[in-house]
Amino acid sequence: MINLAIFGFGTVGSGVYDVIRLNLEDIEKKLGDKVRVKYILDIRDFSSHPLKELFVKDIDVILNDGEVSTVVEAMGGSHPAVDFSLAALKKGKNVITSNKEVVANFGCELLKTAKENNVRYLFEASVGGGIPIIRPLITCLAGNGIQSITGILNGTTNFILNEMFKNGKSFEVALKEAQELGYAEKNPAADVEGLDPARKICILSDIAFGHKVSPDSVPTEGITNITLRDVKDAEKSGYTIKLLGNVEKCEKGIYIMVCPFFVKNDAMLANVSGVFNGVRVIGNAVGELLFYGAGAGKMPTASAIVADIMDVESKNKLFDAAWEDDADPDYVLDISKRETAMYLRFEKSPDASTVKKLGLTLIEGTDSSYISARLPEGEILSAIREHAVASSFRIL
Ligand code: NDP
Ligand code: HSE
Repeated sequence: MINLAIFGFGTVGSGVYDVIRLNLEDIEKKLGDKVRVKYILDIRDFSSHPLKELFVKDIDVILNDGEVSTVVEAMGGSHPAVDFSLAALKKGKNVITSNKEVVANFGCELLKTAKENNVRYLFEASVGGGIPIIRPLITCLAGNGIQSITGILNGTTNFILNEMFKNGKSFEVALKEAQELGYAEKNPAADVEGLDPARKICILSDIAFGHKVSPDSVPTEGITNITLRDVKDAEKSGYTIKLLGNVEKCEKGIYIMVCPFFVKNDAMLANVSGVFNGVRVIGNAVGELLFYGAGAGKMPTASAIVADIMDVESKNKLFDAAWEDDADPDYVLDISKRETAMYLRFEKSPDASTVKKLGLTLIEGTDSSYISARLPEGEILSAIREHAVASSFRIL
């Protein structure tokens, strides 16, 4: 019998229970053993819940039960999630999580602790919800030098952008719907201000390039400054605005950022809508790949967690993730040196010398919205410093 425990019985934790119940026969057949959720730990009151017998409030009950081989941490937040996860690993239990805040900030320590205790720490659900992206990066793409990863990594904001600009809803209404659907973080500022996708691009970068990047070091901008006027200008020039996490490998380090980009309408990422996420990976052997699917939500996220449970319980270990907290202080490069084209909306038309210097092309049907030539970002920003620029976006 495989005995599991779930920490946190909210959207994701309850989804894990439901997916196991939905597919129990198949799961047990594949694992060659019976599977049960023995305990659920949650601070809320579940005394009238049909599963009330499974609920405990004291983590030690789970930690001290030698029958429990794997725990799922789906509580969210850094503390006590990281402390509970470390404690479970030290007690010889595998830990599976969807908690990107913990993986991005404490992943190194958790992976080391897992190794020292001969157990595993897996986190497929921490990036892209139900999309398989972590395991493919570690295993299927192991033979590649990864050159860049660019993705719509937050379902809530992609959903909000769609509801606001395609369906005419207000920001407040769209956010409320995302919360009701279980997509948003407990504090949705993490979604709309870009911290959640920053954590996710750090996790992908850590895996792809082997060095920890702290989410604090990622230039991060969310969706709150995007206006209807920007969206209309994007449409006029054949682009769509998407909040992207982006990391690019360079000779001496990485460029990494989270911000809204203008994305060409015929690019694969432009067509990723609603709660869906898309992650474009470019490898030096495989070329361009796109991973696509539901980026948040109860059942898709639980699907990734249950696969991790089956991975650890099947003992068919392939490669585990590993990275070091050893990057040089200048590993994260200054993005002002990165070359990019930009969308620029001036309050009034720029002078001829600025137009020439930045290679500005007026967007048809606008008075003073332009697309610049591809130049180091710092050069563009310093050339427009003296001008009143109402809006600017990088172009993918
Ligand atoms: P929820 O808030 O729906 O569920 C978390 C549950 O854990 C709540 O019942 C919460 O209680 C409980 N909890 C919080 N602290 C403790 C504690 N110290 N001890 C026991 N129980 C606790 O969150 P989600 O299920 O949405 O998210 C869980 C994690 O998964 C987060 O890290 C999130 O970022 C991540 N994630 C979420 C996705 C989604 O689509 N929702 C997708 C991918 C990842 P209370 O409400 O009282 O705090
Ligand atoms: N709040 C997150 C999102 C959940 O909307 O993408 C999935 O990680």
